Amino acid sequence: MKTAPDLDYSLHHLCIYDDNPRDNMFPYLRWHHGITNFFSGSVFHVTEEGHSDYTFLGCGGHAYQIQIEAPPFQFEYERNWWADHGHGYNHICWLTSDARASMDHLLANSATEVMPFEKFPTYDGFVVHDPEGRWIEIMEYTDDTFRVQEFTHAPSGECGLEMVGNGEICKDVEAMSKWYQDILDLRVLEEFKDADNHVVVMSDKNYDPVQGRSLFILQNARQDFEKEHMAEHGPYISSIIYQAKNVTRAYEDAIWAGMLALQKPQRDSLTGLVTAYLKEPCGGNAIMLTERYAPAAHTVIAA
Ligand SMILES: [Fe+2]
Repeated sequence: MKTAPDLDYSLHHLCIYDDNPRDNMFPYLRWHHGITNFFSGSVFHVTEEGHSDYTFLGCGGHAYQIQIEAPPFQFEYERNWWADHGHGYNHICWLTSDARASMDHLLANSATEVMPFEKFPTYDGFVVHDPEGRWIEIMEYTDDTFRVQEFTHAPSGECGLEMVGNGEICKDVEAMSKWYQDILDLRVLEEFKDADNHVVVMSDKNYDPVQGRSLFILQNARQDFEKEHMAEHGPYISSIIYQAKNVTRAYEDAIWAGMLALQKPQRDSLTGLVTAYLKEPCGGNAIMLTERYAPAAHTVIAA
């Protein structure tokens, strides 16, 4: 069986379930984002059950993207999730060099199947639960040219905005940090801890403090809105993480663009970073906006 490092994992996207993507993508577009790809109709991801409606958006030229996925969802397991949770952050996707071997490895290590391994025209993929029940999608491109497009690396707007990753609220931060390191080959960049809180900042093997900062943050529920969501839905994908050169300006731009205020910029006592929280338009999920943050890489030397 292949090991996690053999599988060449890289963080790719966060998927949001939303039933009104045409309208709700506009606050993102006004907030310095661009559409990297729009997949719909009978040309992509065709299955016996239906077809896709996916809008991919990027911001700041970073590899990490969001995907807005709209009903009618293609698969029963997706429709079931929509019925249970409604609008929400549905899954995180990793790219791999070998999806078949990745599925074997994940199922042998406490992940449970959501969508069986399947060969689509452009990629092989599947979906599993992590040990706390959040969805993980794994994708291996199999077409010579098909890719979700990426921007070149450059912060966007005068505020210097970049989408850099996502946060997850865990029941057991320690155990999940170990699992994501061992099974999905993430590396810990930095940890923040006090008597009540634990935040683990992770990234994939491609992390570079200068050229590529995809972050994956595991933490306990710290904010009131996180505690409420956790009580209702259990451990969950909790935030899209943005960094800005000027957080105050990025926050003002976000409000103008149509995002809703959750918490104005203020210094986070645990991380020391100026941090704001907003609600995004696809159902009011949380956005975390911090000042530019690039912890030193222990595994990669910056160019
Ligand atoms: Fe996806």
